[in-house]
Amino acid sequence: MKRNIYISQPVLGEDEWQSLKEPLNSGWVTQGPKVKEFETSFAERHNVKHALACTSATTALHLALIALNIKEGDEVIVPAFTWIATANVVLYCGATPIFTDIELSTFNIDPKDIGHRITDKTKAIIPVHLFGLCANMDEIKEVANGIPLIEDAACAAGASYKGIPAGGLGDFGCFSFHPRKSITTGEGGMVTTNNSNYAEKIDMLRNHGAAVSEEQRHHGPKPFILPDFNILGFNYRMTDLQGAIGVEQLKKLDIFINERKKWAEYYEHELSAIEWIATPQVDNNYNHGWQSYVLLIDESKSPHLRNEIMEILQAKGISTRPGTHAVHMLNYYKEKYGLSPDDYPNAKTANDCSMAIPLHNRMNEEDFVYVVETLKSIG
Ligand SMILES: Cc1ncc(COP(=O)(O)O)c(C=O)c1O
Repeated sequence: MKRNIYISQPVLGEDEWQSLKEPLNSGWVTQGPKVKEFETSFAERHNVKHALACTSATTALHLALIALNIKEGDEVIVPAFTWIATANVVLYCGATPIFTDIELSTFNIDPKDIGHRITDKTKAIIPVHLFGLCANMDEIKEVANGIPLIEDAACAAGASYKGIPAGGLGDFGCFSFHPRKSITTGEGGMVTTNNSNYAEKIDMLRNHGAAVSEEQRHHGPKPFILPDFNILGFNYRMTDLQGAIGVEQLKKLDIFINERKKWAEYYEHELSAIEWIATPQVDNNYNHGWQSYVLLIDESKSPHLRNEIMEILQAKGISTRPGTHAVHMLNYYKEKYGLSPDDYPNAKTANDCSMAIPLHNRMNEEDFVYVVETLKSIG
């Protein structure tokens, strides 16, 4: 039988289905009680004071930057190897993204490459916890020396660093609930912060800048009062349908991560001996969230180039993807800033030689064994 193992597949079932009944029956389908419940549980799980839901990690990052008042003339440091959204949000504010190289051993921003890029215009740093592995936040904090840190935790729900969950390691954490993430609400995002002033501002910014939410207004005694709008806001509200699904997904987050961890360990055991593969390494300070399992192919030793290996696996029914892209090599950024691939050599190598193999909660033992045996057979 021909196999078809997807790179990622969410686990959505009866619980999520049933959870939709309440908002559908009540008719309250935009941001309301279910979003609140999701936020409360999310804040609890990530040990932060505030969690504010929105429409995606992209809008979460945008909200965090606006809350910091990032504007034209400012610079924001971002890793060169990340999803394009990490840099795009800086441009949404009229500011300039300053790219920084990564460490190939973690695919995360290299703290040693940050210091010399800091100027008096640097107003924030966005470390990315790529593929679910937290960035080296202690070293980043040291070099940042008080510059605000926005964690791009799009891939890092449930991950932690030195016992502290992602989302509470910087001034803001920004999460994604896109279907390729460990838990999903279709699309969706969350901003976390321990700062009540930032939380209050983000609450307004995501709702057109309104000083009073629709829900408060709806239940309030003075129906004639429209809210004040003191700041320029957006409509970045999550729906209560998504909130209801989020509540159910979050209950399973640790089950999902533990299962992924078990299979990541199996991959490590089986694949680390292949000389042309570098498997992801996790030291004791980190609890990996295992959003993705990403290998680095050493093309000087491998029997085929990375892309050929991906084609061979595809032909055998195993989906793979490049880990992500080097943003400085994408046309828009390359042309806008006159960048060349070698400006960030590790990001370029990761762009050209990383390969995510399937790791998700809809795979069974046979699937994992098949992936391993197929990789071992490539010669
Ligand atoms: C590192 C990183 N940042 C940001 C995003 C954007 O997330 P969203 O699709 O929820 O906007 C992604 C999505 O893949 C991501 O991987």
